[in-house]
Amino acid sequence: MPIRRSQLLVKWIFENQHKLQTVRRCSSSLRYKELEENSAAVQAEDVAPSTQFDEPCPHGEPENSFKYEDLQVKLAAPYQLQPKPDARDLGFGKYFTDHMLKVNYHAPLGGWQKPEITPFENLSIHPAAKALHYAIQLFEGMKAYRGVDDKIRLFRPDLNMKRMNLAAHRSGLPIFDGEELINCMKRLIQIDQEWVPHSEASTLYIRPTLIGTEATFGVMAPESALLFVVMSPVSAYFKTSSDGAVSIFADPKVVRAFPGGVGNRKVGSNYGPTIEATTRAAQLGHHQVLWLFGPDHQLTEVGAMNIFMVYINEHGDKQLCTPPLNGLILPGVTRRSILELASQWEEFTVKEEIITMDQVITLNKQGRLLEMFGAGTAAVISPISRIGFLENNINIPTMQQSQPVFQRIKDTLLAIQYGHIEHPFTVVIS
Ligand SMILES: Cc1ncc(COP(=O)(O)O)c(C=O)c1O
Repeated sequence: MPIRRSQLLVKWIFENQHKLQTVRRCSSSLRYKELEENSAAVQAEDVAPSTQFDEPCPHGEPENSFKYEDLQVKLAAPYQLQPKPDARDLGFGKYFTDHMLKVNYHAPLGGWQKPEITPFENLSIHPAAKALHYAIQLFEGMKAYRGVDDKIRLFRPDLNMKRMNLAAHRSGLPIFDGEELINCMKRLIQIDQEWVPHSEASTLYIRPTLIGTEATFGVMAPESALLFVVMSPVSAYFKTSSDGAVSIFADPKVVRAFPGGVGNRKVGSNYGPTIEATTRAAQLGHHQVLWLFGPDHQLTEVGAMNIFMVYINEHGDKQLCTPPLNGLILPGVTRRSILELASQWEEFTVKEEIITMDQVITLNKQGRLLEMFGAGTAAVISPISRIGFLENNINIPTMQQSQPVFQRIKDTLLAIQYGHIEHPFTVVIS
């Protein structure tokens, strides 16, 4: 049967849908203009990302990897395309884009197979797959931002790839060339680019996941695995008080991580066991859990964020600190970026150091504790105004500071992510 012109047109639209967007601008705010003009420290040419806050890599180069050049694309048919949700109703991970990326790994077939982009679909998985029984799996959390110039940017995706391979190495899952996955994800985002919200209040959350699919009950490295990437337009990660701050609950009886464990890896088995404590915190009127460790009640993380404190040190200087990467802490991309940016500002001392609850209480009593905040991709920066600890509520004066450090950091990160400031931390998707 001859192909009609209308069919050809539909086919062309179908294959080139990503080029058909209308140009809409994100709202720009004066705040960013000020930042751009005043903050010479964050200009691209001045910033050389440091490795000072890095973790050593125990695995070598991958023996084999899938390649972007082998990527196969099967676009969704028009009837499979989902309507875009209302920006006010996004939530976090409620809606998914039209396509996904999949890469199979089968050791008997030589390892990684060709990557493929397909219409979004359910997975078919054997009930004995190791991921379902022994949590042999890992995931990442990244975002694509639609900038003020309508360009879409990723924020330091190389660090997510590195963290993904560290978790894969620990879990007996196959490692891969991170650059190849970044290129495949860029293509996926290009195809679903109209799902990247035209707003600075929301973003496209990207969830690369690697699961062991071998269907045998032995607790050992799986011979087969599936790497997949799904994407979801998202808005705020969690609710806050009316002033935008959170109240956190610290229960010394529960731990998130322990020495020699996997608290420093983004594996699902770190998250399931936090639900009970998080629910209890919510019942007591708190937003998040502050995870403590050890008899001296060291602060490790807050919810799914790294924790920061700003205080006046023994020399009378302002100091920004966060716990060191001692195995209990997830090496956050936001954490590292904050440490690098704040070190370059050279306006206050920046340190990785152990923080204990005793220290928080003493500094607070002495009026030397200025701010506490959580930092992570999902919530960006989350100021902390109260800690519930051992029957007491400790009020933290984060929101009472006239020029809070957390706000400057938040504004700078958002300015970089949404393209108000050109910066080497971002990768533009063309
Ligand atoms: C436990 C935990 N800590 C910290 C973070 C922040 O990491 P990032 O800044 O890379 O999002 C996350 C989020 O991934 C997390 O799950």
